[in-house]
Amino acid sequence: MYALPRAGLFTLEAERAHKVSLAAIARYPRLNQALFGCHVPRVPVKLMGLSLANPIGVAAGLDKNGTAIDGLAGLGFGFVEVGTVTPRPQSGNPRPRVFRLPSERALINRLGFNNAGVEALVQRLNTRRTECPVGVNLGKNRDTPAKHAVDDYLRGLAWVVDSADYVTINVSSPNTPGLRDLQESHALESLLSALVAERDRLALTRGRRLPLAVKVAPDLRPESITALAKVLQNAGVDGVIATNTTTDRRGVAVRWQSEAGGLSGAPLREPSNAVIRKLAARLDGTLPIIGVGGVQSRRDTADKFAAGASAVQLYTGLIYCGPRLVRQCALGATDALS
Ligand SMILES: Cc1cc2nc3c(=O)[nH]c(=O)nc-3n(C[C@H](O)[C@H](O)[C@H](O)COP(=O)(O)O)c2cc1C
Repeated sequence: MYALPRAGLFTLEAERAHKVSLAAIARYPRLNQALFGCHVPRVPVKLMGLSLANPIGVAAGLDKNGTAIDGLAGLGFGFVEVGTVTPRPQSGNPRPRVFRLPSERALINRLGFNNAGVEALVQRLNTRRTECPVGVNLGKNRDTPAKHAVDDYLRGLAWVVDSADYVTINVSSPNTPGLRDLQESHALESLLSALVAERDRLALTRGRRLPLAVKVAPDLRPESITALAKVLQNAGVDGVIATNTTTDRRGVAVRWQSEAGGLSGAPLREPSNAVIRKLAARLDGTLPIIGVGGVQSRRDTADKFAAGASAVQLYTGLIYCGPRLVRQCALGATDALS
C-alpha cells in the first residue's frame, strides 16, 4: 500500500518530500487512527515513570516543530519526541542537506537544527489533543559559544517544563560544531548537574518532576562509553537514548563517503546495537535505554530489546517502509517482552 505514495514522494527532493508527508500526517489524525493506529497491538510499558500504550516512539528530528503531534500519535506510536528545538529560531545549513541512499535504506542529513524556536513549539504542545506522551529534544543554537551551551539547555528546559512529558538533552548531533564535545566526562558532568538541579528546583515549584534523558552518539570508543555510563548514573537523569546518527561511512557506496552529515538507517543498525549492548552492560539496569538506529522491521525491534533497550524509536525506517512499520515494531516488542 505504501509502494505508490513512496514512489511519488521519492520523485521529490528529500526535504520537500518530508514536508509534504508531515503535512499529510498532521491533517487527519483520526483517519490515521482508523487506517493504522487501531491495528497496532497494545504493549503497555512504563518508561521513565511514563505509561506508554506501546514502547515504539517517533525519533527526534522527524517533527522538529511539533506540527504533527496528533497525527503521529494517530499512526499508533506509544510516544512522540519532537525537536531538536533551540532557544532561538534558526534556519540550519544551506540546502540541499538531506540525501536518500535507497540501496542502503539510509539517509544522510546535515540539517543543523533548523527549527522555529522553543516558544513556537510550546504553543503547539499546549494545543495538542492526544494523550500520547510527548518528549522535547533540546539543543543549543549554533552561534551560542560552547562555554554558554548550558544556558541554552536551561532556557529550553524552563520553556517546556509545563508542557512536555520528558526532555531529551541532545549532545550528539554531528551537525552543530562542538556539540558532541559535550559528551566528554567533565563537560557532561557539569551540564547535567546544572540541568538536574534546575529540573529538581522546578519540580518543587511546579509540582511535577520532568524525566530527563540524554541522547548519545554511536561514534563513541568503548572507554568513552564506560565513562559516559558512570556520569549518567551519577547525574540523576532518568534515561539514555542511543543512538543519534553516525559520521562513519562504512557500509555505504563510495559516492556517499564524502557527503558531510549524519548517516541513519540500515547501516547504523549494528553500530547502534553495539553501543546499546555496551551501555546496558555498564548501566546494569540502573537506567532505561531507548534504542534508535536502523529499525526497519519486527526483527530489528526485537534485536534492539535483546541488546538491552526498553523502548525503540524510528525515523529512517518510516521513510522506507511507511506507517505500517509501527505495527510491525509493536509486534517485535511483543516478541521480545513476552
Ligand atoms: C533528517 C533527520 C533529521 C534528524 N534530526 C534530529 C534532531 O533534530 N535531533 C536528534 O536528536 N536526532 C535527529 N535525527 C536522528 C534520529 O532521531 C535518529 O537518532 C537517527 O536517525 C537514527 O535512527 P533511524 O536509523 O531510525 O533514522 C535526525 C535524523 C534524520 C534522518
